[in-house]
Amino acid sequence: MGLDLDYTDGQTPIDEDEKVGLRIKSISTQGELDEFEQQNIEQAILWLKKRKLKIDDILTEEFVRKLHKQMFGQIWLWAGEYRKTNKNIGVDKFQITTQLRTLLNNCKYWIENQIFSPQEIAIRFKYELVKIHCFANGNGRHSRLMADILINQIFGLEFFTWGSANLVKHSDSRKQYLSALREADKGNLEPLILFALS
Ligand SMILES: Nc1ncnc2c1ncn2[C@@H]1O[C@H](COP(=O)(O)OP(=O)(O)OP(=O)(O)O)[C@@H](O)[C@H]1O
Ligand SMILES: [Mg+2]
Repeated sequence: MGLDLDYTDGQTPIDEDEKVGLRIKSISTQGELDEFEQQNIEQAILWLKKRKLKIDDILTEEFVRKLHKQMFGQIWLWAGEYRKTNKNIGVDKFQITTQLRTLLNNCKYWIENQIFSPQEIAIRFKYELVKIHCFANGNGRHSRLMADILINQIFGLEFFTWGSANLVKHSDSRKQYLSALREADKGNLEPLILFALS
C-alpha cells in the first residue's frame, strides 16, 4: 500500500526516499498519517511533562533532535535526523548544523540579557527554527512545541494557544498562521506573537 499524500498550503512535500522511512506500512492517506503523528506527539508531551528542563538542557542540538524523535519516532525512521535533501523552504542541507548552533547561541543570549519579552523570545526562536527547517517533515509542529517548552520551562508561563485550533488541517486559523509567518518573513513578528497567544 503506497502513501498518497495531499499537501496543504505551507507544508513541506516528503521526498520518495523519505517515504521509505515510514515505520507503519499500513498508513496510506494523509488523514491516517496526521492521526498517527498526533498520537505520537501526545506521547511526546507526556514525556516532556515528566521533566524539569533548564536553558542548558533545552537549547542544545541534542535536545532539538531528541524532541523531534520523541514526537515522530514511532512513525518515521528518520525522526530526529537532519534532512538530507533540500526543500522549498529552509536553508541548504549543509548549512543546518551551523545555522542551528548560531540560533541556539543567539537564543541563550536573548534570554540571559532579556533582549526581548519572553513571548517574543519563544516566538522568534520558533520562527528562526522553522526557517532553518532541520528535518524532512514535522518542522512546523516541532517548532511550535519548542516555543511552548521555552515559554513554559524557562519563563514559567502557560503553553501558547496557537489560534485555539488544529493547525495541521485546512482552516481559517491555518490561513492566519501562514499569513503571520509571511509577515515574519518581511520582518514583522508581531502577528505571529499575537496568533500564538490567541
Ligand atoms: N513562508 C513561511 N515562512 C516561514 N515558515 C513557513 C512558511 N511557510 C510554511 N512555514 C512553516 O513550515 C511548516 C511546514 O513544514 P513541515 O511540513 O516540515 O512541518 P509540519 O509540522 O509537517 O507542518 P504543520 O505544522 O504545518 O502541519 C509550517 O507549519 C510552517 O510553520
Ligand atoms: Mg508537513
